[in-house]
Amino acid sequence: MASRPYDPRDFYFRQAHKDGLRARSAYKIEEILDRHRLLTTGGKVLDLGAAPGGWLQVMGKRVGPKGRVVGVDLVPIRPLPELPWVTTAVLDIRADDFKEALDRIERGPFHLVTSDMAPKTSGIKAQDEARSIELSELALATAERLLPKGGGFVCKVFMGADFSGFTKRCEAVFESVRVLRPKATRERSFEHYVIGQNRR
Ligand SMILES: C[S@@+](CC[C@H](N)C(=O)[O-])C[C@H]1O[C@@H](n2cnc3c(N)ncnc32)[C@H](O)[C@@H]1O
Repeated sequence: MASRPYDPRDFYFRQAHKDGLRARSAYKIEEILDRHRLLTTGGKVLDLGAAPGGWLQVMGKRVGPKGRVVGVDLVPIRPLPELPWVTTAVLDIRADDFKEALDRIERGPFHLVTSDMAPKTSGIKAQDEARSIELSELALATAERLLPKGGGFVCKVFMGADFSGFTKRCEAVFESVRVLRPKATRERSFEHYVIGQNRR
């Protein structure tokens, strides 16, 4: 079957606009959270690569005022005054001082670490996959440091040569590791989400 032409204003794009969500990707984290029950009221989440804030809106509503969500990105995230328990900061996970800079905002522990980080794509598949894995490894190291036993992890990865190596490294940290491609993922995208549950 021929793939549909790329439509930047597809169903999920239009739905996000109607629902007041900043990004169509919000529906991906909604599906992941619903299927894997990773977050409850009062939970504490670290969201890596959080701009423009679609995941923050979904997770901020789920945890509610007794919870806390910290979102970081290379670029500034417009404030979310309707969710004052959501905090944002401009941080680069590759920076030498990332750990110290994050600790100054929130030391953890967190119940859940999520990463929707994506490198600027070059169009060269192997290069884009390698950059995605590099970001995913940094997200995994951050999760390992900040999650207590039982904590959860969600991480976007571009499917490529080292994908199974990455899932194996996740298996060393989490009791259960699954891979999901949410319905809102664009047909042509290589991205998959690795979901780690129950940090060992
Ligand atoms: C697909 S967007 C995230 C969308 C977000 N989940 C939402 O719902 O609004 C990917 C983000 O990863 C961020 N990113 C890429 N490299 C990063 C890095 N080294 N450190 C922090 N964020 C990074 C990008 O700036 C971009 O905003």
